[in-house]
Amino acid sequence: MTAAFRSVIAGTGGYLPERSLSNAELAAWKGIETSDAWIIERTGIRRRHIAAEGETASSMGAAAALAALAEAGASPAEVDAVIVATATPDSAFPSTAARIQGRIGATRGFAFDVAAACTGFVYALSIADAMMRAGQARGVLVIGTEIYSRILDWTDRGTCVLFGDGAGAVFLRAVPTAEAGGRGLLSTHLHADGSHADILVVDGGAGSTGGTGVVRMSGREVFKHAVTKLAAVVDEALAANGLGHGDVAWLVPHQANLRIIEAMGKKLHLPLDRVVVTVDRHANTSAASIPLALAEARRDGRIRSGDLVLMEAIGGGLTWGAALARF
Ligand code: UT7
Repeated sequence: MTAAFRSVIAGTGGYLPERSLSNAELAAWKGIETSDAWIIERTGIRRRHIAAEGETASSMGAAAALAALAEAGASPAEVDAVIVATATPDSAFPSTAARIQGRIGATRGFAFDVAAACTGFVYALSIADAMMRAGQARGVLVIGTEIYSRILDWTDRGTCVLFGDGAGAVFLRAVPTAEAGGRGLLSTHLHADGSHADILVVDGGAGSTGGTGVVRMSGREVFKHAVTKLAAVVDEALAANGLGHGDVAWLVPHQANLRIIEAMGKKLHLPLDRVVVTVDRHANTSAASIPLALAEARRDGRIRSGDLVLMEAIGGGLTWGAALARF
């Protein structure tokens, strides 16, 4: 049965902290034994933004959300729901989503967080889409916001050079299917395999150690899973819609490593200029990376109305997933 509504991406927005550090500047600041050449060769990362004291996941997420609302020409009064993907919430509760709802002055509806690490934005998008198709909400903010600089072990060079801070958001509007003209989310595809929980993990938490913990990663293992699982999930998304590689206008991947991004572009027969890349300037901003990339490519005119956009991500859980949307 065709749903009565389509979830159309009406606006996108991003926020990056002002402070941007090159690889060399970060290494000097934190006393990390690394080199610009190693980081660029293995990851493609050249710079990352680091939040200022006083900034939080909710302050950054609110800025991204307001930008998405402005692009959509929507007011906070149109927001029925705020769904936030984050691994770095301001506090265990209230949710970062509720805090953002308060910060932007949205007074109706509901708000909650989603925990799926770097796949969080795709998970949150999927939940929003299902609720909108079911008629439970007509205007939904989906936000990824992360402040990994607070959960990194600055003595572990295998992880601390990889991440950055930032937030991205989309505002989804329910449009009657008959009026959507094919625009909106086509489908979302979610996966998890908890047997690999320990290869990418924050080694503490409120309910275990009582503390926050820091990021630990078996980089090579995660890399292998990323290449195979992302390849499978993009095929799954295209097949579910009877589409082929040639139908995709833009690949907007999670930004963890340029080598993984290039492998996905190659698999989809997309030249790198049809792939939105931000990892060089943002590093890995986890759940924020896809909405930040969407916002950048909408602002500079790359993604246009009618373009089919394929999003994919993998992260701690392991979790992975994909989403197809027509702008
Ligand atoms: O966002 C969630 C998903 N995450 C990902 O997709 C990340 C997936 N993994 C990766 O991107 C890569 O595995 C990394 C970038 C994390 C690491 O690259 P790698 O090519 O797999 O390197 P490695 O971990 O196997 O380390 C190779 C060498 C090691 O030295 P030895 O043992 O060969 O002597 C490391 O100690 O590089 C060394 N190394 C470094 N050297 C300079 C590790 N980190 C650094 C560093 N600077 N920052």
